[in-house]
Amino acid sequence: ATPAVATATSTTAANPAAPPAPNPAPARRTPMDYIFGKVIGEGSFSTVYVAKDIHTHKQYAIKVCEKKHIIREKKTEHMKREKEALNILSNAGVPFFVKLYCTFQDTDRLYFVLSYAKFGELLPYINRVGSFDLACTRFYAGEILVALEHLKRLKIIHRDLKPENVLLDENMHILIADFGSAKLNYNVNTARTTTRTSVNREDQDSGSERARRNSFVGTAQYVSPELLTDKTATHSSDLWALGCIIYQMIAGLPPFRSRSEYIIFQKILKLEYEFPQGFCSSARDLVEKLLVIESTKRLGATDSNNYTSVRSHPFFDGVDFDNLHLATPPPIY
Ligand code: ADE
Repeated sequence: ATPAVATATSTTAANPAAPPAPNPAPARRTPMDYIFGKVIGEGSFSTVYVAKDIHTHKQYAIKVCEKKHIIREKKTEHMKREKEALNILSNAGVPFFVKLYCTFQDTDRLYFVLSYAKFGELLPYINRVGSFDLACTRFYAGEILVALEHLKRLKIIHRDLKPENVLLDENMHILIADFGSAKLNYNVNTARTTTRTSVNREDQDSGSERARRNSFVGTAQYVSPELLTDKTATHSSDLWALGCIIYQMIAGLPPFRSRSEYIIFQKILKLEYEFPQGFCSSARDLVEKLLVIESTKRLGATDSNNYTSVRSHPFFDGVDFDNLHLATPPPIY
């Protein structure tokens, strides 16, 4: 007996002789399926709107990109990578990432329908309170760490992790966004990158060797030394960024600061940063073990499953990593 025959002859209670109703492909969505609201995010290549699905009344964030602009700025590979990374993460069903619900296009624009992060970016919360208490820092650092474990397992390097790309959902849990700089399914342990600043990126795969040398990925303050020296990103490049974010949650500002990007890069390469008075000593120890120039020597860099050695650091004592997504986040004061 073949299942195909059984399916083909199945009947409905209402009409025993009727062939089974075909399962029609869902109609392609268009901008008309949504009511667009205010702008909630603006990047160099996209505008994000809050939007309501007219059928379900559910809210989404819709990222809209002008095709002309994408082509002019040679960002087609970025767009493809972002869509692919979001598809991998959405299909994996893992928490802590914005989900991609669907994509569509019209003559002039591309549309990404994403989960709406109701409480926006983590950055203004850090700036507003000046410094997170240890419970908050531990909680959000823990959620970011679990997110990085999912990325490692799925062979995705984010490459532009920063508090602006850590969004907060309606329950104040994190949703990591912006995979336009991501490296996917790289082979071996290193991924050649062509990266640049958030303000001046260029297309990764189209440039000449000179363009590659002259370009860099990510955002100056959070970029890892290996990205600056040999344009090579590994999963531990994201661990470096986590170290910068943990420092920032406690100190209020990122560790490597200057008005000049060039000076920031010099400071990163020299590991030139200081801890303010009163910085929690176990947090300091963790940051010092993440902000290590040699990428393979960072805490977690050689972990095979998850980031067990980072989980085990005393700063995270008592954290139930596997249930963070179910926990009630500590209030941010
Ligand atoms: N800004 C950029 N992306 C967003 C999202 N998914 N939700 C809320 N704000 C955003």
